Amino acid sequence: MAPAPKRVLVTGAAGQIGYALVPMIARGHLLGPDQPIILHMLDIPPAAESLEGVKMELLDAAYPLLHGIVATTDVTEAFTGVDIAIMVGGFPRKQGMERKEVMGKNVSIYKAQASALAKFASKDVKVVVVANPANTNALVLKASTEGNICPKNITCLTRLDHNRALAQIAERLGVTSKDVKNVIIWGNHSSTQYPDVNHGTVTLADGKEHNIRDAVSDDAWLNDEFIKIVQQRGAAIINKRKLSSALSAASSVCDHVRDWMLGTAEGTWTSMGVVSDGSYGAPAGVVYSFPVTTKDGEWTIQSGMLCHYQSSSDVSNPLGWTAVRQDQDEGDEDEGDGDGG
Ligand code: NAD
Ligand code: LMR
Repeated sequence: MAPAPKRVLVTGAAGQIGYALVPMIARGHLLGPDQPIILHMLDIPPAAESLEGVKMELLDAAYPLLHGIVATTDVTEAFTGVDIAIMVGGFPRKQGMERKEVMGKNVSIYKAQASALAKFASKDVKVVVVANPANTNALVLKASTEGNICPKNITCLTRLDHNRALAQIAERLGVTSKDVKNVIIWGNHSSTQYPDVNHGTVTLADGKEHNIRDAVSDDAWLNDEFIKIVQQRGAAIINKRKLSSALSAASSVCDHVRDWMLGTAEGTWTSMGVVSDGSYGAPAGVVYSFPVTTKDGEWTIQSGMLCHYQSSSDVSNPLGWTAVRQDQDEGDEDEGDGDGG
């Protein structure tokens, strides 16, 4: 017998990530090929007609898993009974835009929507924040839903950065991203993040698993250009498309939620922005990207790694805390790269 439908909310569903994401959800990429979905889509009144058009297209695509669509500009209706909330609604930065402009607008949206989340969503709702600054918006949701929603259920998306790191290594070695595993994104979805290959492996043409550093055999590239490419990829996409990444963001949201709900494979971990328990020196309570394993809808921070910054010679600033703390703080000074965090 088919399982009961799950209610999945996408906020900002009429936007460009929303348009890429909702067909992926309806096709089963979020919760697997057997899980029926009732899709809730929220946007603001100026986007109501466009949202209605997206709903019409979803109907026309006749997705077998799609058991219902709620397309609305009413926050209460949107959040009622949802099991998964994908928070995309907000404003993207544009080319040349200051980062704090996005932060100012988007953080207030997350403050406003937190009460609807706490009041009307399922008590065990799982939340992933996509809108920038993603870590900060998730922190705002966590703080504003305390006592109603378990902080462990509020996460932010750093899986796009994780996937970017996998793809860069795969491209460099002429393999597919499936052959690369266990990279880590530490920190914020911003240019202060640290993409870490030091625990990662790659399966090469010989069929054997190799340490990424040995396989690449170019520490200079791994320690410099690779890190910058991953850290700055969002800006590079905006420079080319004049719009921020959308299909890759949507696909990574599906990877994030699917792994969270269905579990990571034995011996592998992924990267998720989660509420810190103080692991690796990240202050307890901040939303920080760690390596996590998942099982039955629960994530666990993978312990026992040597965090790159802890092994660096800069012992006075082991995890780059100055930058991380600034990004967690709503009133921070813009760093000039405008990339959110
Ligand atoms: P977009 O402008 O195309 O779409 C955003 C949608 O949100 C619009 O339809 C807008 O009407 C809607 N919206 C605005 N305020 C809202 C509110 N209060 N409630 C509900 N909906 C609201 O933008 P996009 O390209 O889809 O990007 C969305 C966000 O995701 C941006 O903040 C962007 O920077 C961020 N992003 C994050 C990642 C990541 O990896 N974390 C990746 C890509 C983009
Ligand atoms: C990304 O990483 O692509 C997004 O955060 C969009 C951006 O502003 O860079």
